[in-house]
Amino acid sequence: MRALRRLLFLAGALLLAAAPARAVVDSCVECHRGLDDPRLKAPTAGFPHDIHAERGLTCAACHGGDPADPDPSAMDPEKGFKGAPTRAQIAPLCASCHADAAFMKRYNPRPYVFSMAEWQTSVHAKLAARGDAKVATCTSCHGVHGIRPPKDPASPVFKTNVPRTCAKCHNAGYMKGHPVRTDQFALYSKSVHGVALLEKGDVSAPACNDCHGNHGAAPPGVKDVTMVCGTCHGREAELFEGSRMKAGLDAMGKPGCVTCHGNHGVQHPTDAMLSAAPGGTCAGCHRPGSVAEQGTSAIVASFRGLQGSLSTADSLLQLAEVRGMETAPGRGNLKEAQDALVGVRAGLHSFDPKQIGAVLAEGAGLSRKATGYGREALRDWHNRRLGMVLSLVVILILIGLVVAKIRQIEN
Ligand code: HEC
Ligand code: HEC
Ligand code: HEC
Ligand code: HEC
Ligand code: HEC
Ligand code: HEC
Ligand code: HEC
Ligand code: HEC
Ligand code: HEC
Repeated sequence: MRALRRLLFLAGALLLAAAPARAVVDSCVECHRGLDDPRLKAPTAGFPHDIHAERGLTCAACHGGDPADPDPSAMDPEKGFKGAPTRAQIAPLCASCHADAAFMKRYNPRPYVFSMAEWQTSVHAKLAARGDAKVATCTSCHGVHGIRPPKDPASPVFKTNVPRTCAKCHNAGYMKGHPVRTDQFALYSKSVHGVALLEKGDVSAPACNDCHGNHGAAPPGVKDVTMVCGTCHGREAELFEGSRMKAGLDAMGKPGCVTCHGNHGVQHPTDAMLSAAPGGTCAGCHRPGSVAEQGTSAIVASFRGLQGSLSTADSLLQLAEVRGMETAPGRGNLKEAQDALVGVRAGLHSFDPKQIGAVLAEGAGLSRKATGYGREALRDWHNRRLGMVLSLVVILILIGLVVAKIRQIEN
């Protein structure tokens, strides 16, 4: 008896081993792939590249049902089939896995765990809760049935794709009826940041989500703006944080950096910005005769003063160079003075006239030294030229004398 059982077991094992490995057939994919209605067929097209499919999560992971049943009864609600989620059901569906740290750990030891609390701070989620069907939900930004990790260049939230993904909705046509500005992409794509990211592919420049967050999209509060910009512009933010102007702007309820630079349309700052004349960045806030107004005038005047003296020094040195004079020490001073000016463009953000004035004064001193070198070199050149003319005259006179002497001897 025992021998027979063994024999049967062995035969069974042999049969199993000989049978071709059965591919796991997913009835949902198989049947939907063959359907004519594009609405029902389309989900199978991009699905092979979907991160969920790659992790072994199939149609049923989101829609329920029985993928082993080849008949329409696979979609029996009794088998857990939920159908297609409505728009309002999408975020809870995605979050049912993504906000569950224990579940996500099974797929990745260090997973990104989605925070429902953060999501609910976003204007998107708040308006959705009030029944707004036009705000973004998970699939508006990540797509569906072909969801890729954000690091994949084909993902709509890959860094360089983010601005256009947001602009699919943040445009005048889509936002009709919403009381919100729609010029963000137009301004951004022409800003230093947009040009750097979209045209030069410089991923250190911010996309929309670097300033607004991935899932908490809301306009940064007045107080948060300095922090947002400061994540990348640390030096300016640190100086500004400690300035009296920051405290003054807080009291006025005005945000920091964007009051002068704008938010979406940040441009390369020019020296012309630093001006209290109408249209200048420093106009319109300081009371006439106030400490701030006097400080601004002093900063602007010494800034322009240094600029002027740098260009005087540069032209003098150039003239001397054209005339073949040695100017290296003067050039050295000029370089240091120019560095002081560069330093002031960033150091300006302390808005402390004393601190800024000291740097500018040091620059002015160096610039004066360079001018001195230039003048001296030109004076040397004049002296040399005078010397040459004099010696030429002497030589000519000598030649004249010699010629006269020869004529005399011949006579
Ligand atoms: C034998 C073919 C067949 C199988 C197997 C099948 N489906 Fe379907 N599915 C259909 C057809 C046909 C429809 C459209 C019928 C309808 O609207 O009721 C449909 C509709 C759907 C819809 C859309 C429902 C809606 O509310 O619009 C979803 C989602 C879906 N199927 C998912 C699944 C999943 C998940 C499985 C596997 C567990 C599966 N299907 C298995 C044929 C199939
Ligand atoms: C990661 C979750 C997820 C997976 C996996 C998934 N779906 Fe869906 N599916 C959704 C969501 C969310 C919607 C609603 C999309 C919307 O309204 O934009 C949806 C909608 C649908 C619809 C209705 C489409 C329509 O336009 O009305 C069908 C049919 C469907 N899915 C079939 C499938 C099939 C077949 C698979 C497997 C090949 C699959 N889904 C895998 C999340 C998923
Ligand atoms: C307004 C657009 C937007 C919406 C809506 C959105 N996301 Fe995201 N999501 C992003 C961006 C942008 C990233 C990050 C890209 C990056 O890291 O560069 C991201 C990243 C992710 C990641 C991967 C995070 C990582 O770092 O690995 C997951 C998972 C994710 N989102 C899930 C969700 C879920 C779930 C929802 C809905 C509840 C949702 N997202 C809604 C834009 C969005
Ligand atoms: C059944 C559970 C489940 C559901 C429902 C689900 N996901 Fe996922 N998702 C996962 C798992 C598991 C991964 C792989 C995570 C990993 O490898 O870090 C993943 C990966 C992702 C990634 C890539 C994350 C990364 O860090 O690269 C994104 C984006 C994403 N899902 C978005 C969504 C969206 C949007 C929805 C809703 C339409 C959704 N998921 C629904 C389980 C789920
Ligand atoms: C599916 C369309 C859609 C997509 C995609 C989308 N948004 Fe929105 N967003 C909206 C709508 C609608 C509002 C509500 C506007 C209102 O009435 O205030 C909104 C509101 C906002 C707000 C708050 C504006 C305010 O002051 O009320 C911010 C900030 C925002 N979105 C940023 C983003 C960013 C960043 C992205 C891309 C990562 C993005 N959105 C993608 C539709 C979208
Ligand atoms: C460099 C940071 C930065 C970038 C990049 C950025 N934003 Fe903003 N955004 C802000 C700030 C700051 C505000 C708040 C308004 C203010 O106080 O000036 C804002 C406000 C908004 C608002 C509210 C309406 C408004 O215009 O005031 C929306 C909507 C918005 N941004 C969407 C976007 C979209 C879409 C993108 C990408 C195309 C984007 N933002 C890129 C910083 C940024
Ligand atoms: C994610 C990092 C990041 C954030 C956040 C960011 N920036 Fe920038 N910013 C950059 C980079 C990188 C450049 C250089 C772009 C280039 O190469 O032209 C730049 C350039 C600038 C410039 C031009 C500097 C010059 O010398 O031409 C100004 C002004 C500026 N940013 C202001 C801001 C303000 C204001 C904010 C906040 C509203 C901000 N930035 C947020 C990374 C950032
Ligand atoms: C009161 C107006 C004002 C505020 C507030 C302000 N800036 Fe500026 N910023 C300027 C001016 C003016 C310049 C240009 C100086 C020049 O080029 O002569 C400038 C220049 C810059 C530059 C270019 C510096 C360089 O090295 O050329 C960056 C980057 C910058 N600001 C970032 C910021 C950030 C970040 C904040 C907030 C923490 C901020 N700014 C707040 C007025 C301001
Ligand atoms: C949006 C309004 C606004 C703009 C624009 C502005 N400031 Fe101010 N500034 C203030 C406020 C508020 C104070 C705080 C003192 C006060 O209330 O007068 C201040 C203070 C100052 C002070 C005095 C600091 C101290 O130590 O007491 C200086 C200097 C100054 N600003 C320079 C500038 C310069 C330079 C610019 C142009 C690049 C500029 N400000 C643009 C609002 C502004």
